[in-house]
Amino acid sequence: MKKRALSGIKPTGNLHLGNYLGAVKGFLDLQADKEVDNFYFIADYHALNGVPNPQDLRDRTLHIFKALISLGLDPEQSTIFVQSDIPEHVELCWLLTGLTPVGLMERAHAYKDAIAHIKNPNMGLLCYPILQAADILIYDPQWVPVGADQKQHIEISRDLAEKFNRIYGETFIVPDPLIKEDLAIIPGTDGEKMSKSKNNVIQIFGTEKEIKAQIMSIQTDSTPLEEPKDFDACHIYNIYKYFATPTELTKMQDNYRGGNYGYGHAKLALLEKLLEYFAPARQRMDELDKNEDEVRLLMKKGAEKARGRAQKKIQQVRKAMGLGEFYA
Ligand code: ADP
Ligand code: TRP
Repeated sequence: MKKRALSGIKPTGNLHLGNYLGAVKGFLDLQADKEVDNFYFIADYHALNGVPNPQDLRDRTLHIFKALISLGLDPEQSTIFVQSDIPEHVELCWLLTGLTPVGLMERAHAYKDAIAHIKNPNMGLLCYPILQAADILIYDPQWVPVGADQKQHIEISRDLAEKFNRIYGETFIVPDPLIKEDLAIIPGTDGEKMSKSKNNVIQIFGTEKEIKAQIMSIQTDSTPLEEPKDFDACHIYNIYKYFATPTELTKMQDNYRGGNYGYGHAKLALLEKLLEYFAPARQRMDELDKNEDEVRLLMKKGAEKARGRAQKKIQQVRKAMGLGEFYA
C-alpha cells in the first residue's frame, strides 16, 4: 500500500520564501514519488485564532490554494483541500481533548512564544496542537513534511496517537515529521524567522514592486561599500544561497570578499534571481487569477476526496470510544 504524506499551511498571509523552502519544496519532492499518496490543506480553522476579518480570511485561503497549485502541486496527483470543508477535523479535535493534559499545551513552544506578546490568549491558541493532531491523525499519514519550527507539534500528535491507541486499541498511525534539517529556519528581512504574522516576509506572488521593496528592507550592517563583507553573516546572502547555482554563489562570495560591492548590489542580484526562479509559478498564478471558477471546482474536488477519508476514520474513532451506534 502507498504511504501517505500530509501537511497544512495557515492562511494568515500570502505565501513567502520560508513557506516555500521549509514546506512546499518538500511537498513537491513527495508528489514526485509515485509511491506516496499526498494530502495538503489550507489550515483556515487554525487561522481563526487571530480573529481575522472574514473577507481577508477568504482571500488568503484562496491565495494559498492557488499558490500551491502555481508552485507545482497537481490536484490530479495530490489531494489539495481547505480544512474547514472537512468539519470532521473539529470533531476529532474534541475527541482528543480528554487525552490532552493542560500542562502539555501550556508548555508548547509556539504557545509560550505567543503569550510572550499576547496579553489575553484565547483557547484556540492553547488548543492549537490538538487541532493540528486531529488534522494529521484523521488521514493516517506516515509522514508530515514541515519546517523545523513544527517539530514539537508533530511530537504532540505522536503522543496523542500513542495514548489513544493504548487506551482505545490500535486506531491511528503514529506519524513521523519530515524535516529538511539543512534548511532549518529561513530568516526574514529582519534576520528573525520569516513568518506571515511578522512584517518580515519576502512574498513569492507579490508585484515586482512589492517584492523589490521587501528585499530592499533586508537589514544589513554598516560596513562601508569599499570594504570586504562577511557573506555568512548577511541575511541577503543567506536567502540568495537557496536559489543560486553553485557558480552564482561563488561569484557572490567573491564579490563580498573583494570589497567595492555594496549590500544594494547584493539585493538587486537577489531580486533578479527570485524573479527568474519564480517566473513560471508567477505566470501560472496569473492564469489561475483569471480562471477562478476552475479554481473553485478544484477546491470542491479536493474536499470531496479528503472528506470521504475523514468520515470513514471518524466513524472508526467514534466506535472505539463508545459513541453513537444506538440505531442504524
Ligand atoms: P507562517 O509561520 O509564515 O505563518 P505557517 O505557520 O503557515 O507559516 O507555516 C507553513 C509551513 O511553512 C510550515 O511547515 C512551516 O514550518 C513552514 N515555514 C514557515 N516559515 C518558515 C521559515 N521561516 N523557515 C522554514 N520553514 C517555514
Ligand atoms: N501548525 C502548522 C504551522 O503553523 C500548520 C498546520 C496546521 C499543520 N495543521 C497541520 C502542519 C497539520 C502539518 C500538519 O505551520
